[in-house]
Amino acid sequence: MATNLKRSNLLDDQVLQEDWLVACRSADVKEEPIQIKLMGERLVIFRNSKGVHAFKDLCCHRGAALSLGEVKNDCLVCPYHGWEYDDSGACVRIPQLPEGRKIPKQAKAFKYSCTEKYGLIWVNFAGNEPEMFRHTESEDDSFHHVIWGPQEAKAKPPRVAENFLDVGHLAVVHEGTLGSEEHREIKDYKVHEEDGRIYSDEIPVYQPDADGTGKAKIMYYTYEILRPCTVKFSKRDPEDDSIMSITFTIRPVDEETSVAYAIESFNYDTGLTDEQIVFFQDEIFEEDKPIIENQKPEELPLDLQVELSLVCDRMSIAYRQYLKKLGVKLGTE
Ligand code: FES
Ligand code: CO
Repeated sequence: MATNLKRSNLLDDQVLQEDWLVACRSADVKEEPIQIKLMGERLVIFRNSKGVHAFKDLCCHRGAALSLGEVKNDCLVCPYHGWEYDDSGACVRIPQLPEGRKIPKQAKAFKYSCTEKYGLIWVNFAGNEPEMFRHTESEDDSFHHVIWGPQEAKAKPPRVAENFLDVGHLAVVHEGTLGSEEHREIKDYKVHEEDGRIYSDEIPVYQPDADGTGKAKIMYYTYEILRPCTVKFSKRDPEDDSIMSITFTIRPVDEETSVAYAIESFNYDTGLTDEQIVFFQDEIFEEDKPIIENQKPEELPLDLQVELSLVCDRMSIAYRQYLKKLGVKLGTE
């Protein structure tokens, strides 16, 4: 019995197993448990009075998916024979046991570390519970936050993350919204590494319709690498210093699939509803999707000789160097 509870398909990547990986939005986990797939593993995420919890989505009795069950009296109840697991994973009730018989101590669910932060739910497979990256906008009351995603792409996480850090594609793939054909040149910029922060200079980028009023403007873009699957973009309007940032994070689903989420933060009134903000970002992602789903190799080459880079690709190069230094294997070559 113990064997089917062992960790399985965790895609053989120690670095990601030791990180916090996004599982879903906070809003996705209400009274009902849900199933999500992360690193090739089926997980059940559920909420009780103590918070959110993640188990392997497998009952040790007959292999039923616990996510088909329910949460009752703070316990997760298996849908098949009603065994009840508390949030430590211990089975605390077996309805079929005759009076006086003890619950076998091997009756347990396989629990993973799980936490809720910034409107998202995160899982840490290795149980080392590292420090979560800091999202400074969440500490600042002047920001309004919108959660975007999930959006799926048949691409490996490093290709998806690098696309988000790629300033050169904006005026090509997103022409008309994020850039224009006459303004494709990217001024040279540097990438800095300071106190573990890896971020770019502010890059002036022409936006044909920067604030939805149809007025073109030069905006200042900053890119930052937070984690292997979490990267960030901030846009500053030099006229009034208003800031919009997108913290983009990827759930590695399996060998082939990524699901993207983002925390979009604004310290000014966009004049848009949250739904409109999400819809706009969906459209942008739809434009990126055919590109990232068809890149070859599917793995991001960490050997800088393999693909030809320009000065505008400094952020991508920094990202590749970062993954290489950490030893990220998933989706790299
Ligand atoms: Fe879960 Fe039997 S399979 S209680
Ligand atoms: Co894009």
